[in-house]
Amino acid sequence: MNKTPLARYPNLRLRRPRAFSWSRELYAEHHLRPQDLIWAVILKNGNGVREPIAAMPGVCRLSVDQAVLAAKEAVGLGIPALALFPYTDTKDRSPNGDEALNADNLMCRAARAIKDAVPDIGLMADVALDPYTDHGHDGILKDGEIINDRTVELLVQQAVAEAKAGFDIIAPSDMMDGRVGAIRAGLDAAGSENVQIMAYAAKYASAFYGPYREAIGSAGILKGDKRTYQMDPRNSDEAIREVALDLAEGADCVMVKPGMPYLDIIRRVKDEFGAPTFAFQVSGEYAMIKAAAQNDWIDGDRAMMESLIAFKRAGANGVISYFAADAAKALQG
Ligand code: PBG
Repeated sequence: MNKTPLARYPNLRLRRPRAFSWSRELYAEHHLRPQDLIWAVILKNGNGVREPIAAMPGVCRLSVDQAVLAAKEAVGLGIPALALFPYTDTKDRSPNGDEALNADNLMCRAARAIKDAVPDIGLMADVALDPYTDHGHDGILKDGEIINDRTVELLVQQAVAEAKAGFDIIAPSDMMDGRVGAIRAGLDAAGSENVQIMAYAAKYASAFYGPYREAIGSAGILKGDKRTYQMDPRNSDEAIREVALDLAEGADCVMVKPGMPYLDIIRRVKDEFGAPTFAFQVSGEYAMIKAAAQNDWIDGDRAMMESLIAFKRAGANGVISYFAADAAKALQG
């Protein structure tokens, strides 16, 4: 495409099309729809529970019955899928995160209940051990090191249990090497060949996950940081290698995470592979917008919509977001 304007001022006035709302609609290059959103939902044990998360104003931990209501609401709003994450009490955590493999754990019970009541919603499951380990890491911790291959074996079992419970998309967020291929083989062997994999392919070691750690009960307990497995924020070529590997191992789609600080990575990944590419607008991004809005420092609704269209503009097919329901409501007017 020749990007040199054919005409110049005063014949060409780029303000001309911006003058009216109807005209701005015609000229709009990108569009956000409720169908572009995956709603991130935090689960908690119990019944009738809607427990506010201090660092994420407007987001509550939901018991299974409340998550079913959220799923119904999502369908009504045109949101195609929910991404579920479990809060786990310290007492239910263990060194190896055994609860991850329990076919009757909170995630699996929620999937069964939601699929029972709302069969048409897509359900995405995070695969990683961090909600279940007593040290808050995503894998098996041995002598201060996260053991890759043993962790992958457990992740495969976790993924198989989640798929059996009714999850449609398995989303490994652990950043172990080789996990996508292993999970694909495990799902196929278990008869879940139609369950998709969304790889957290380019996932960075980020400060923006802070509120999430509170949300799932990992905040106080994480020992050290996740830099030996999550990516270095200084790197971009490495993201391309990560995505190439995950696609080669059979990922149906890939994700970049966090979202807004990594829009350049979304664009590069989309241009390089043309594969379905999703952004995760993580807890810290949500919290920043909410906190500033609560202080009347920014217009929260406008900042929400502007942050979401940025992902579409960068090339993302869709966005995982805690804002999904609010944004879908705003889009419905
Ligand atoms: C765990 C996981 C994290 C998030 C999703 N899955 C946190 C982490 O890696 O420490 C972050 C989500 C968010 O911040 O909203 N593997």
